[in-house]
Amino acid sequence: MKIKLLSTLLLTLALGCFAAFAENEPTPLEKEMKAMNKSLRTLKKQAEDAAKKDENLALIATIKKSVEASAKLEPAETKKVPAAEKAAYLDKYKAQMTDLAKTYDELEAAIKDGKAEDVKKALVKLSDQKEKGHKDFAPDEK
Ligand code: HEM
Repeated sequence: MKIKLLSTLLLTLALGCFAAFAENEPTPLEKEMKAMNKSLRTLKKQAEDAAKKDENLALIATIKKSVEASAKLEPAETKKVPAAEKAAYLDKYKAQMTDLAKTYDELEAAIKDGKAEDVKKALVKLSDQKEKGHKDFAPDEK
């Protein structure tokens, strides 16, 4: 009897630990976003450095893959959206991801052509799109 009680207790504990772990595990979208963020930070520091042009273009290529992957995923918040509004919500999310990809294209062109002003403009646009994207789809993120 004691053994049964003990194993039930242990099983409950193990399940609790697993649930806590699953909750803290980053979503696939969060992983893509974090990867993009990391490359973008490096890029921001050296975007106008002509000597790092190839490195910067390689960073953009990596970022674009993350944006492509992100567009195919759904924000975690989607589960809170009523069924009738879900399709419109996801269409809006994809549209904002498409806009984000376009801005990275603009940044890429500006870096290729060595146009410092356009580089600055594209970086500001990216910050605005990030802010709006997070306000609309990840209210808990900054
Ligand atoms: C330059 C642009 C962006 C950057 C650098 C960026 C970066 C990030 C980072 C670092 C996180 C994880 C937050 C954390 O560490 O706690 C995150 C989460 C998230 N971002 Fe972005 N983000 C960008 C644009 C966007 C846009 C445009 C959207 C929506 C259209 C978006 C939607 C989300 C969502 C939904 C999450 C939460 C993850 C989830 O729901 O699973 N982000 N982002």
